[in-house]
Amino acid sequence: MNKNLFEDQVIVVTGGGRGIGAAACKLFAEFGGKVVVSDRDEEPTAALVDEIKDSGGDAIGIAGDVTDPAFPAKLIGGTVEHFGKINILVNNAGYTWDGMMHKMTDEQWYAMIDVHTTAPFRLIRECAPYMREKAKAEIAEHGAPQENRAIINISSTSGLHGNVGQINYACGKAGIVGMTKTVAKEWGGFGIRCNAVAFGFIETRLTNAKEEGASLKVGDKEIALGIPEGMRSRATTGNPLGRPGSPEEGASGIIMMASPLASYVNGHCLEVTGGSGI
Ligand SMILES: NC(=O)c1ccc[n+]([C@@H]2O[C@H](COP(=O)([O-])OP(=O)(O)OC[C@H]3O[C@@H](n4cnc5c(N)ncnc54)[C@H](O)[C@@H]3O)[C@@H](O)[C@H]2O)c1
Repeated sequence: MNKNLFEDQVIVVTGGGRGIGAAACKLFAEFGGKVVVSDRDEEPTAALVDEIKDSGGDAIGIAGDVTDPAFPAKLIGGTVEHFGKINILVNNAGYTWDGMMHKMTDEQWYAMIDVHTTAPFRLIRECAPYMREKAKAEIAEHGAPQENRAIINISSTSGLHGNVGQINYACGKAGIVGMTKTVAKEWGGFGIRCNAVAFGFIETRLTNAKEEGASLKVGDKEIALGIPEGMRSRATTGNPLGRPGSPEEGASGIIMMASPLASYVNGHCLEVTGGSGI
């Protein structure tokens, strides 16, 4: 396998401190990329940067909340300041805040739209001078873009097929697919590909047993994460592979779409689900 697939490429991964995002950061680094680990939580961000560096990789951490309107400038500006450019943005940060539709509050609704749709929109827009304009200048000078450039947006089977108790999350994750196809059309002419990766059941903090008690603080609220044990055991029913995916298997879908090997794949939504929902 070509371990230099991402050599001299700069990759930003939001929600990179844990789960699928952390696995993606490690894989990008393993394949030669310079990685910017970004997560709202500073401790896992710093720990992963150390781990990547200890394994001989190149990484920095820029922690912060993607829903903060000031954060895109800090993250993308900080990336370019340190590494001089950006090749790949992975909009992966996210969480769930479930509830049945008839009981869902506006706060719950907007929280999911903010993190899964508005934040990726702002981050992609922030990349325009460093990706779109850079590629435009290369085309003017050389007749073609000179580097691999891609945006990967993370969706979910909830966004593609709907899911009970997740109308807010489903709409956020459906919106990101429309955004993906729009950016694919607007930036495709500059050789910048934009693709989505929709996960099924991947074993992370988001899908561990709710009874384990993981939570995430949003404003003054502590949001419980995970799936009730009874539902978890049924979650792979009808899945042809009969098992959940690992974070590394989820991350591999991101790597595939980001790599130069996918240079003619644009506006696609790759389902990494083990075949659920086919
Ligand atoms: N695990 C699954 O089965 C599954 C299925 C479909 C989609 N997804 C999506 O995959 C992505 C990764 O989730 P995961 O399963 O690895 O979960 P995870 O909880 O293990 O990791 C998500 C990371 O995102 C970070 N994060 C959350 N909100 C943030 C914010 N506002 N700003 C910055 N960072 C923030 C968290 O701190 C966490 O480290 C999410 O977008 C999720 O919706 C996951």
